[in-house]
Amino acid sequence: MAKEMYYHTLPARILHWVNAANIGLLTTTGLYIRDPQVFPFFASMDIARKTHFIAMYLIIYGILIRIYYSYVSKDYRELLFRPGDLRGFPALAKYYLFLSKELPDYGKYNPGQKFLYNAWAVLIFFQAVTGFALYFPNASAQLTRMLGGPLLFRQVHFMLTWVFIVTVAVHVYLSFIGGWTVVKSMITGYFPEGEHMQPSSERVGINERL
Ligand code: HEM
Repeated sequence: MAKEMYYHTLPARILHWVNAANIGLLTTTGLYIRDPQVFPFFASMDIARKTHFIAMYLIIYGILIRIYYSYVSKDYRELLFRPGDLRGFPALAKYYLFLSKELPDYGKYNPGQKFLYNAWAVLIFFQAVTGFALYFPNASAQLTRMLGGPLLFRQVHFMLTWVFIVTVAVHVYLSFIGGWTVVKSMITGYFPEGEHMQPSSERVGINERL
């Protein structure tokens, strides 16, 4: 049996699933709040709104704790998207568009993953700003009017929800086609040594490829 290496620490795994659950709750309750007829996921508006209001604080704490943890554990070194990561995109795009069988050895996360994980933190920030403007309409009235009005905030909040729906779907799809070992690693923390997170028939060193 292949030797297993410890890949995801316990705090990273807990935060991953807590944040995932909160995004799921915020998306489903949010869609219900938007239109309960089209998205009949809950028994009542009261349940959906209360759940949204609890999950909105939990996701903010969840993201802040994850950022704090990435600094204390130093895993920001693998997670932080840097401008130099842009150079890795062409090879990644060619691979996912089936134009190449080679995938450079990017390390723990490829540039697409880093970009997405960082972008989610930024998107949560915008969801929090637009969401709190809706939550405290009187306190934020002047600011919302200056920035386009409450309706615009509501539409931005709703549009960003779709960015989450699409990108989370891509993330889940890619995790599953990565195989059970990839999905399991986020539960147990362990991943077989020598295997790669992204499926690839050939693999070349990142410096050879870029
Ligand atoms: C991060 C902090 C967040 C805050 C403070 C927040 C706050 C709010 C508030 C106050 C409302 C209006 C509720 C009502 O009118 O009863 C709302 C609606 C909604 N929220 Fe959030 N929310 C947050 C995050 C999210 C996230 C992450 C998503 C989805 C990914 C989301 C999706 C929605 C949707 C779809 C609606 C309905 C918008 C509409 O009616 O057009 N929210 N949110």
